[in-house]
Amino acid sequence: MKGNDIFAELLPPSVQVVQTRTELEDGRSYWEEERYIAEAVPERQQEFRTVRVCARRALARLGHAGVALVPDEKRAPIWPAGVVGSMTHCAGFRAAAVASANDIRGVGIDAELHASLPAEILDIILLPEEQVMAAELSAHHPGIAWDRLIFSAKESVFKAWFPLTRQWLDFLECRILIDAQAHRFQASIRARGPVAAEHELTAMNGRWIAEGPRGQGLLGTCVIVP
Ligand SMILES: CC(C)(COP(=O)(O)OP(=O)(O)OC[C@H]1O[C@@H](n2cnc3c(N)ncnc32)[C@H](O)[C@@H]1OP(=O)(O)O)[C@@H](O)C(=O)NCCC(=O)NCCS
Repeated sequence: MKGNDIFAELLPPSVQVVQTRTELEDGRSYWEEERYIAEAVPERQQEFRTVRVCARRALARLGHAGVALVPDEKRAPIWPAGVVGSMTHCAGFRAAAVASANDIRGVGIDAELHASLPAEILDIILLPEEQVMAAELSAHHPGIAWDRLIFSAKESVFKAWFPLTRQWLDFLECRILIDAQAHRFQASIRARGPVAAEHELTAMNGRWIAEGPRGQGLLGTCVIVP
């Protein structure tokens, strides 16, 4: 891992990623964005602003300068024409990834604190076979919060899925298979058959990284739709 850059080695060179563990400012304010968070709590305002500084720095590498990044009615970010991208934030970390739509069809990134999921939500997030897989992986690699990693993989899948389909996807409509050795995963979209097939999204490939032992650091996941 290069320093603190959890996504740097997960994403291909065609994807520009900017990530930070401190809050950032770019010296001006975007009223279109500020309007969206006017009523929000300070923590939400801060993550919203900083992740957009990350996104603008990444977009500048693609030749787009000074773009306001307003969420659409479903909270998905509206990127400049010809750009695909994804944003994530969790306590102490923000990241944005963007690419030309000529290079990839979609990208999803997600960062999570490296801690197990609360037991009471396991059945909402993980399929029974994923719970078995998480238990088996935990027996061999107890330092990694596999249940949270599967959750994060599904969040990345959703962030790539939604802009392409404009359709909801439930956690239990997607199955994650983790390759622990290769730090990769495969997502199978099981329900939503016609929508997934129409958009050639029945399967997605992703990568993951885990910092520190469980209870410390972050988990990061990403998927690319080639
Ligand atoms: C949208 C969602 C994935 C965001 O994930 P999160 O862990 O809550 O938060 P993160 O910080 O990682 O990501 C938030 C960012 O996701 C992006 N996002 C939000 N809704 C989005 C959507 N519909 N499509 C794409 N990206 C979206 C936004 O950029 C947002 O940041 P912003 O509000 O500052 O603009 C999550 O809240 C959600 O609704 N999940 C349920 C759907 C799902 O994940 N299904 C799993 C299918 S396998």
